Amino acid sequence: MRALLLLGTASAAAALSNATLHAIAADAIWPEVATGCILRADFLNHVVELETSTGETRTVLSKESPIPPVIPGPPQLCALKNDHDNDGKQRSVLTIATDLKYLRPWSHFLWNKLCYCKREGLDFLLFLGNVDTAHAPNPKCLSGKAGNHWIKAVAIHAALSRAGQDEVLVLDTDAIFRRESFSRHGLASCYFGVMEDAQASVAAGAEHYQVFVNAAVLLVRETPWTRALLRLWWRDRCGEKDQLILWHSLLTLWNKDSNLNYDGELLAYTSRDYKNKSSTSTYKHARRVVTFDYARQLRPAHFVKSPVARAHPIYHLAADSLLDFPDFALLPQTALPPPKRCPGPGLPSLRSNAARRKKGARGAGPASFLAHTKNRPAFDCCPAGNVDAAAPCVAVNLERSTHRKGESTPHRR
Ligand SMILES: *[C@@H]1O[C@H](CO)[C@@H](O)[C@H](O)[C@H]1NC(C)=O
Ligand SMILES: *[C@@H]1O[C@H](CO)[C@@H](O)[C@H](O)[C@H]1NC(C)=O
Repeated sequence: MRALLLLGTASAAAALSNATLHAIAADAIWPEVATGCILRADFLNHVVELETSTGETRTVLSKESPIPPVIPGPPQLCALKNDHDNDGKQRSVLTIATDLKYLRPWSHFLWNKLCYCKREGLDFLLFLGNVDTAHAPNPKCLSGKAGNHWIKAVAIHAALSRAGQDEVLVLDTDAIFRRESFSRHGLASCYFGVMEDAQASVAAGAEHYQVFVNAAVLLVRETPWTRALLRLWWRDRCGEKDQLILWHSLLTLWNKDSNLNYDGELLAYTSRDYKNKSSTSTYKHARRVVTFDYARQLRPAHFVKSPVARAHPIYHLAADSLLDFPDFALLPQTALPPPKRCPGPGLPSLRSNAARRKKGARGAGPASFLAHTKNRPAFDCCPAGNVDAAAPCVAVNLERSTHRKGESTPHRR
């Protein structure tokens, strides 16, 4: 049945008008987020402190100090202002944590981001806090309860709407800038340029496993389409996994101007029973099959059928070129042509999934701007407090970690 439908829908989706997008975003009810919190980083001593607009101070990172108490009140959006590239765009890196205790085992990962932002003149934003997600307003959400992944949509919205950012690179705590990226300047802006040329408001890097969009690395531009997407992502929160609803929100928007016949089906896939291999009603099935079946209706040429025979055929995303969807792009696992905004040599792939113990495609992989990894970065590109753009990176002898997190934990969402 679906195979027949495909023929007629290859080029169905046209851009939604701004009026439609504004209407979708208009009635959003966003939780309160406090802005005006500033971060101060001492790169020589590896100490980071924050000060909220009401004068509360905390030590974010320091080898010695104990983990400080939670800041009372709404989540904080804290900023380390570095922006000095003067190209008229507010551009930042955004990372999200529920509290400082959560962040502590990830200190090497945080330093990697702070150092990169300082050297590149990007603002660094830290969203710190949790939101009450108990109520999932969408009646299709049978489980009725959302988990703590939901702060990502709230944090991105706050960065765009409250902190006035134009372009935000959203990185999970376990995503880092690879060592090579520190010696080639301006890359962050280049990936946003790729999106601009492809007329994409949001982009992600194609993953090595069967997932349509992995939200650990997102490129987000402030546009009416992005605001509509974020509103759906937050409104339709359902179950523990925010990614499921990101896919749902993409399909919901694409559905408005095409004949996808998507009717919120993904909301029924919140169960995370990974053990039941025969189940076609779990998150995993949605991740591997359902999202692909819908997205394939829009852009059949972007998908390749797996040669492995299965009850539910698997389709992979084509991996070696930019895949354009309406207002959204998946950047390839291979090098990209340079965008208009930054002529010059091609760009490395946006991200790789560097798992130390894996060989081949899921191992260190080809050159990439970012790595999504649970292995702590064993290099420091701001050695001895030198944040100069040309500072050489040095190898770091990592002390033994007492935390399981941040140490070669394979991950798959
Ligand atoms: C929609 O809004 C964006 C930004 O506000 C603008 O760049 C774009 O040209 C608008 N599109 C149309 C079709 O008016
Ligand atoms: C596994 O999933 C199938 C289909 O959803 C279901 O019929 C079956 O009862 C499940 N098995 C277990 C052990 O939960």
